[in-house]
Amino acid sequence: MKALLLSGGSGTRLRPITHTSAKQLVPVANKPVLFYGLEAIAEAGITDVGIIVGDTAAEIREAVGDGSAFGLAVTYIPQEAPLGLAHAVLIAREFLGDDDFVMYLGDNFIVGGIRDLVDAFRAERPQAQILLTRVPDPTAFGVAELDTQGRVMGLEEKPKHPKSELALVGVYLFTTAIHEAVRSIEPSWRGELEITHAIQWLIDAGRDVRSTTISGYWKDTGNVTDMLEVNRSVLETLDRRIDGTVDDDSEIIGRVRIESGAKVTGSRIVGPVAIGADTVIADSYIGPFTSIAGDCRIEDSEIEYSIVLRDSSVSGVRRVEASLIGRNVEVTPSPGRPAAHRFVLGDHSKVQISS
Ligand code: G1P
Repeated sequence: MKALLLSGGSGTRLRPITHTSAKQLVPVANKPVLFYGLEAIAEAGITDVGIIVGDTAAEIREAVGDGSAFGLAVTYIPQEAPLGLAHAVLIAREFLGDDDFVMYLGDNFIVGGIRDLVDAFRAERPQAQILLTRVPDPTAFGVAELDTQGRVMGLEEKPKHPKSELALVGVYLFTTAIHEAVRSIEPSWRGELEITHAIQWLIDAGRDVRSTTISGYWKDTGNVTDMLEVNRSVLETLDRRIDGTVDDDSEIIGRVRIESGAKVTGSRIVGPVAIGADTVIADSYIGPFTSIAGDCRIEDSEIEYSIVLRDSSVSGVRRVEASLIGRNVEVTPSPGRPAAHRFVLGDHSKVQISS
């Protein structure tokens, strides 16, 4: 069995963070979303992974390399434009050969991995196995309609009037039957070859398409609230480990991970919290459900329930809450008079002021 991991796309929903970085590399608890997918694939006993890459290919290659760090052998498959998930299967034909495979969308996050699912598929081998989850707004997803026995009756891609609240999760299991399906469909209104349509083609051809409904799912819906929530749920599972240095004037409470090279002085950190390598925390309070990436500086500040990406600094600010701070960002008090807010904000930024 092989895996096809999709890591193209432009990530418009997570702007401004994805102006400068691939959406699949947005970190959750200081680790790129894509890495959780790679780990889940390895954990399911799969070693051959094809990664579909687009405009952000260089960045993805730099982060993942040859896959050996994950115990995987990675083949990169460039897609010249985002022409759809079924198009990705088309161009991966040679890599996939006649193997069964799991297709995993690199911007999807599945709590608990995919091992049980892959094991069940290996044992039963229906032509396709899809994953579903209940979501509040199914119009942003593929939507499934099931019969009373739970069999998949039909699928629709981003319907205006969804027939159920069951959204297609971005993990699909296929036998070689999918290859004929992806060759037989036409592009959708958005100009893409939709995998949803290819699966519908299998259903119409009377093939065995099964579904499993899961909970514990997140995708880049562009919603910072969701991102903070998924960060929170992953931090909940963190083990305490302190590889960096903590001085005697600091207090570290609960499940806190401090990577090597990080330095904590005169501060109070209440877990679960993840602090990345070589980050400095001085005279500050870091509250629960906060991830601070590597090479940051938090000084004389208070921050809670937030995500801070690499190379950023927060100094003399209290209190920051429910915030997503990008890379190379500086947050400081404004100097002198008048006491005014001063901003240099990129496109698509959002700011909420407490006065
Ligand atoms: C794609 C699929 C959709 C599925 C979603 C899951 O949507 O087309 O059916 O529900 O992934 O992430 P897209 O990311 O292209 O909007």
